[in-house]
Amino acid sequence: MKHGKFITVEGSEGVGKSTNIAYMAQQLEQQGIDLIQSREPGGTPLGEEVRDLLLDHRHTGMSQDAELLLMFAARAEHLSQLILPALEAGQWVLCDRFTDASFAYQGSGRGIPADRIEVLEQWVQQGLQPDFTLLLDIDPEVGLRRAAERGGLDRFEREEIAFFHRVREGYLQRAMKFPQRFHRVDAAQPLAEVQREIGRVVARLTGDSTHG
Ligand code: TMP
Repeated sequence: MKHGKFITVEGSEGVGKSTNIAYMAQQLEQQGIDLIQSREPGGTPLGEEVRDLLLDHRHTGMSQDAELLLMFAARAEHLSQLILPALEAGQWVLCDRFTDASFAYQGSGRGIPADRIEVLEQWVQQGLQPDFTLLLDIDPEVGLRRAAERGGLDRFEREEIAFFHRVREGYLQRAMKFPQRFHRVDAAQPLAEVQREIGRVVARLTGDSTHG
């Protein structure tokens, strides 16, 4: 039986995920929420090793299915070792990416049919879904420029721009398909505006939890 809330943050490269996740965590903790932060791919020792494999540009040309299966292998470990135990103990989990990323990147980006991804989703998650997903949305041209300024591009960040347009479309379609769970924020706005929206989201989430 799950008690804590499972919150995920999604978006394509250079969207300001790290800064905004740190801000969201700080806001949640100020409201007295017992919070664990994690990320995908990763979040466990095994998952972090899988992440290294996935992001290493030496593996450019990795097969699409291997990429998808590695994402879900890391996810299976993450769920069993960290996410489910935390939720069951009443903690909230704030996760930098989850399965919506597989639908956006491996599905829309690489072209793997969604029904194949759904098989793995059902297998690994057995019905578990995030309670809430914040989608930070930005034009990929702007996002990639920001990511490039940071330097040290990983295997995904070296993809062509068309890939990131498909990823963005994939995320927007997910948001339309699950309007109750998703909240889209325009990440091209000034940071203060994005964070005001995050503040409102946190108020709603923590307000909800006091009402059951
Ligand atoms: P990031 O967490 O630093 O953004 O890097 C993770 C990369 O992995 C990012 O480019 C998106 C990609 N990714 C997928 O392609 N599929 C997934 O299921 C997940 C969780 C991430």
